[in-house]
Amino acid sequence: MTEQDKRFLTTDFGIPAPDNTNSLTVGYPGPTLLEDFHLVEKLAHFNRERIPERIVHAKGAGAHGYFEVTHDVSQYTKAAFLNTVGKQTPAFVRFSTVGGEKGSADSARDPRGFAIKFYTEEGNYDLVGNNTPVFFLRDAIKFPDFIHTQKRNPQTNAKDPDAFWDFISLTPEALHQVTILFSSRGTPKTYRHMDGFGSHTFKWINAEGKAVWVKYHFKTEAGIENWTDAEATHMAGANPDFATLDLFEHIENGKEAAWTCSVQIMPVEEAAKYRFDPFDVTKVWLHSDYPLIPIGRLVLNRNPENYFAEVEQAAFAPTNIVPGIGFSPDKMLQGRIFAYPDAHRYRVGTNYAHLPINRPQVEINNYRRDGAMRFDGNGGATPNYQPNSFDGPNAAPEFYRGDHQDAFSGNAERLAYELKDDDFAQPGALYRLMSEEEKTHLVNNLVGHMRNVKSKEIVERQLKHFFRADPEYGQRVAAGLGLEVTA
Ligand code: HEM
Repeated sequence: MTEQDKRFLTTDFGIPAPDNTNSLTVGYPGPTLLEDFHLVEKLAHFNRERIPERIVHAKGAGAHGYFEVTHDVSQYTKAAFLNTVGKQTPAFVRFSTVGGEKGSADSARDPRGFAIKFYTEEGNYDLVGNNTPVFFLRDAIKFPDFIHTQKRNPQTNAKDPDAFWDFISLTPEALHQVTILFSSRGTPKTYRHMDGFGSHTFKWINAEGKAVWVKYHFKTEAGIENWTDAEATHMAGANPDFATLDLFEHIENGKEAAWTCSVQIMPVEEAAKYRFDPFDVTKVWLHSDYPLIPIGRLVLNRNPENYFAEVEQAAFAPTNIVPGIGFSPDKMLQGRIFAYPDAHRYRVGTNYAHLPINRPQVEINNYRRDGAMRFDGNGGATPNYQPNSFDGPNAAPEFYRGDHQDAFSGNAERLAYELKDDDFAQPGALYRLMSEEEKTHLVNNLVGHMRNVKSKEIVERQLKHFFRADPEYGQRVAAGLGLEVTA
């Protein structure tokens, strides 16, 4: 390196810095001069280093990799990134806990986020799922209330078991996810040792315009590994960033993290006849009804260079679907279609789509211009309106021509899901499926948490839900709390 090539410290405008240790003062020790613009710029920029953390899923870790198609699915979807066996699509994945703040412990009892961004040749496809196939709720209108109960008490600023169990006990549809959350799967050891799910029902559309309903499953090739409750509590103090560092170091050591991807496919005409509403995200489709069909492999093999640029500014939205993929009338999914881009505009800024981590690997062509921090060419001299006579980009209906159309009709009403079965059958079946050891962990984890609830009324209401799922389930939790329960 020559003397000229040596890099020197500058301001944000490239002006060489005279000193990075001593501020400019009048005499010794002297007051500091406002004209020390090096100091002012440094302090002012520092004050603005934080952007709002995600309102949920604030603590997370991410990695780059690819998705490879292993089985022909062209009979079900025309999505270009899935159209050839062996095709690889670049991907970025962010894993997260849900309720804690950006500095909270990785080992917390919580679902884990499993958000995938596929940089396809038809634009970005985001599959923003969890490590659980179901969710606590089935209507987006309940989500902010639910999350308030997972966060901090408005007066004490501490976690509030009464609020948590009050809401849960008044929300019977949560029982399935609660049973998973308090099983050992509520404390996965690392992000590599857990499965991922799209959770919602989505639509796939093939080249003939025919549609099917679809659910995604990602099975970890590393095998499931969980902490016990005691281990998770210990890790929260001993190494709160354990899962974050595990992912980073695994990849840094030249190894891959991988999941096989399968789907369940339901013919559209079977939805109305199914044993429960197939769009209700508190339920799983039975594998005996709709077996797993393998489709591909997700591989993570490259760490981010910079956490803020790539992980913190990453913006995933269930809103982003590509031709060949559609939404379903799942009311949670419908609410999420609004919520995520809205969160991104607030959290990252109007032009967040242009940041390198969010930018698609295809051209962005439209008439949206300006806005805070527009840092590309902003469309240059090309027209910013349509219709125009200057060869601006036109809509591309050919990507959607002949697609299946959903037929909806009815009055505008606020209707609950029609429950063909109840909210207790699947959690009860899950409980009975568990080994004796798993049942004991589940019961002990629940007892350990519910013991902190002050209101007896809340506890008794929740115990009835466990009992309705399976009398033994309810009785064991009640016994652990020194109580009795009946239907
Ligand atoms: C993050 C809203 C349900 C998975 C978020 C964020 C919001 C949000 C606002 C923060 C986004 C950001 O700042 O970048 C909602 C609403 C829901 C809902 C309103 C219900 C109507 C779900 C469900 C799942 C899920 C059912 C999974 C099946 C995630 C994940 C993230 C996230 C994985 C983190 C994404 C990332 O890593 O950046 N959610 N959510 N959410 N949500 Fe949801």
